[in-house]
Amino acid sequence: MNKIAVAGTGYVGLVAGICFAEVGHQVTCVDIDEEKVKLMKSGVSPIYETGLEELMQKNYAAGRVDYTTDYQTAYKDADAIFIAVGTPEQPDGSANLSYIATVARQIAESVEKDCLVVVKSTVPVGTNDKVEQFIQDFLVKDVKVEVASNPEFLAQGSAVHDTLHAERIIIGTESKWAEELLTKIYKPFHLPIVSVNRRSAEMIKYASNDFLALKISYMNDIANLCELVGADIQDVAKGMSFDERIGSKFLNAGIGFGGSCFPKDTKALDYIAKQNGYDLKTVKAAIDVNKEQKTMLYKKASKRLITFNGLKVAVLGLTFKPGTDDLREAASLENVPLLLEQGADIYAYDPVGAENFAKVHPEGKSGKGSITYVANIEHALEGANVCFIFTEWGEVKALTPETYRKLMRTPLVYDGRNIYCVEEMQEAGVEYHSIGRKP
Ligand code: UGA
Repeated sequence: MNKIAVAGTGYVGLVAGICFAEVGHQVTCVDIDEEKVKLMKSGVSPIYETGLEELMQKNYAAGRVDYTTDYQTAYKDADAIFIAVGTPEQPDGSANLSYIATVARQIAESVEKDCLVVVKSTVPVGTNDKVEQFIQDFLVKDVKVEVASNPEFLAQGSAVHDTLHAERIIIGTESKWAEELLTKIYKPFHLPIVSVNRRSAEMIKYASNDFLALKISYMNDIANLCELVGADIQDVAKGMSFDERIGSKFLNAGIGFGGSCFPKDTKALDYIAKQNGYDLKTVKAAIDVNKEQKTMLYKKASKRLITFNGLKVAVLGLTFKPGTDDLREAASLENVPLLLEQGADIYAYDPVGAENFAKVHPEGKSGKGSITYVANIEHALEGANVCFIFTEWGEVKALTPETYRKLMRTPLVYDGRNIYCVEEMQEAGVEYHSIGRKP
């Protein structure tokens, strides 16, 4: 059992902290937000994540996890301090490292015994060398502090499962002491550990995420070509997936990738390459394809309808993927403003994301159009002239083709997630447009 502090209680930090407690470590989660700390102490998770609250309550009751704003007490005698604060994208695509720097300084001023600082946040290659130097520069006590890189591979919506059952743990260290301590901390998880140097660990994170982003953009690119040559992207993906070298995952063409990771990490690696005088053509292509893909259906619908002015438009799904209330880089955020500008009266449904979306687009009139949030899908579809699907929520997938035909004024559906069978929609009398399949 080790004494662990975790800086930052976002998706990565909170889930990591709780999972460390779950396997028996003594964990203190640190955040600057007093209200958030109170909430977490009361057993409420500030993020929507399957299974997280149960584990928070269980481990808090068992005394294995606590939450605080008092970083000094949390850091002073920790064996390891995990940094899991945000590295948001800056306008030029680079990562903003100011939150990491703040925590690094707090650590330097607080630690009273030898300790390993483990950076979980996604940072440009070489950053952790600088973090280590920065901590040394500000260190108050005569103690040993080293920095390790331990990138995170969890996906939102399945974060707890992904952490407890990770396919691999990457640890990037520069000394035997750091490697052994981090290996010991992860031992109770019984997962494969890949031990590399610090820079390689930092690169593994970007290379993995950007490869997945590339895979999606490649399938979207092929999907668009499929439409032109009369092939079906789902059949093509199925045929490809039997080749184990390609694999069956992340081959789903759609309305582009969103979320807090792929868009940011593709731009960041492109930026890192530029800084080093290298032109990273593949990743740049993934970014370009994704940008185009987000408004693909809107453009198709604009041609078909001439105008959206005065039309009732059903929007099903607002979040960047199901199982989360996160809207970052979601296709809805690109398309809704375009529809509103064109005078559409939008009726939007999302089982968990509507509240967050209403903060950006409050209910009521907006420009020439308007937006109304509905709690059930039928209300969105009733009398609608056109429907856009941006997220493949289970509730949306469960709808039958007949529901669209019966409820909509004109059963015209633009599906950004290829949820339904083209033939079944056609047989039910729905005009159905999706991605990479015949209309
Ligand atoms: C992603 C990675 O999957 C995680 O491994 C990684 O740890 C995480 O980023 C991170 O860096 O923190 P996440 O952004 O939560 O996780 O979500 P994904 O499930 O990967 O989906 C990202 C986007 O790609 C979504 O918009 C999704 O709809 C889209 N996608 C995914 C497709 O369009 N097609 C696919 O086949 C798969």
